[in-house]
Amino acid sequence: MSGPLKVALLGCGTVGRQVLRLLDEQAEDLSARIGRGVEVVGIAVRRPAHHPDVPAHLLTTDAHALVTRDDVDLVVEVIGGIEPARTLILEAFESGASVVSANKALLAEDGVALHAAAAKAGVDLYYEAAVAGAIPLLRPLRESLAGDQLRRVVGIVNGTTNYILSRMAETGAGFAEALAEATDLGYAEADPTADIDGFDAASKAAILASLAFHTPVTAADVHREGISAVSATDVARAAEIGCTVKLLAICERVTNGEGDSVAVRVHPAMIPTSHPLAAVGGAFNAVFVEAEAAGQLMFYGQGAGGEPTASAVLGDLVAVARNRLAGAAGQGTTGYANLPVRTMADTPTRYHVSLDVADKPGVLATVAQEFARHDVSISTVRQDGHGDAATLVIVTHSAPDAALSATIAALRDMPAVRDVTSVLRVEGLT
Ligand code: HSE
Repeated sequence: MSGPLKVALLGCGTVGRQVLRLLDEQAEDLSARIGRGVEVVGIAVRRPAHHPDVPAHLLTTDAHALVTRDDVDLVVEVIGGIEPARTLILEAFESGASVVSANKALLAEDGVALHAAAAKAGVDLYYEAAVAGAIPLLRPLRESLAGDQLRRVVGIVNGTTNYILSRMAETGAGFAEALAEATDLGYAEADPTADIDGFDAASKAAILASLAFHTPVTAADVHREGISAVSATDVARAAEIGCTVKLLAICERVTNGEGDSVAVRVHPAMIPTSHPLAAVGGAFNAVFVEAEAAGQLMFYGQGAGGEPTASAVLGDLVAVARNRLAGAAGQGTTGYANLPVRTMADTPTRYHVSLDVADKPGVLATVAQEFARHDVSISTVRQDGHGDAATLVIVTHSAPDAALSATIAALRDMPAVRDVTSVLRVEGLT
């Protein structure tokens, strides 16, 4: 093989434009690092007229023809979504090209089949940019930590929701007000559903869990709750117990008498302000990893945006190009452990509950009885009295999530409970 490595780019939006810019501006360094130059030979877009800054001769609307060109070594896919991205990636593999993708939705839905197709073709599939933008995370999981046993991966992997929750904590604003501010400032998209309802984070959690536990996990396996129900009261209650509210992607290996399993969930939770993730403010991302030998690790940085995401794409491009020149494919993914994925009902969690109750003899005992009836152990109780009413703030020990939610349902029906004012899961409390 001689001459530059030939790259086909699928998509030329915010990320694609930055990939092109960096490839151009850093051409000399990249060539030195790879050992061969890199040449973009085509860019597939839907509407060429929308890309006046890109050399016209590179633009094409025929993505299929581009990825199946004999001379294309690497395909960079930054169009997102399931189709046509999946078909184009599979076609690229069949034509012998390696693929760098930023497509979290596709990897979370069909990662196993895509990896199998890449392995069959003897080419690479890298997708560092799919999770937490610029943060080097997937290669550390699949390479640097490949000799360790991972216990937990807990991340703030969605910048939009982290910005909103950070503003709620800073200003006391409600969710709607903080979302409106995030939209005005460009932190939230016009349709923020994928971020707000946790779909984006769930895809990322599936990818993280698959790599961390060598087990196929899809987005459909991930329990998902968004942040639209988080209230100013929840945020205030969190502050009262020295906590802050974050949307967490939690991937954990659960070990019990039945053997190991994997639990993967995305939901808002209170975490102590002393936890490293609590300090992650604004639109930043961070992922906290607990491994048996390595102990605790923290990865922090920009999780979105054209330039940070392009950095991750370029890092993959260099790795894949080096493999190509070495005549090898890098480590893919391994699902050898194939652990069962637990249901949320069966996953151990802890709850923080705040109740408005009548302040009279026996109420606390009746409330405590409801927890005991569901086999849920109470960790702490605080009561603030005001007149004939009181607020009870209860933090539980760990129990199956189904038992905790059944307890809450029962409390809502108790005559002595005037209102359940806040219910959130708690993570990281000792
Ligand atoms: N929309 C995502 C976020 C970035 O808000 O973090 C892309 O995954």
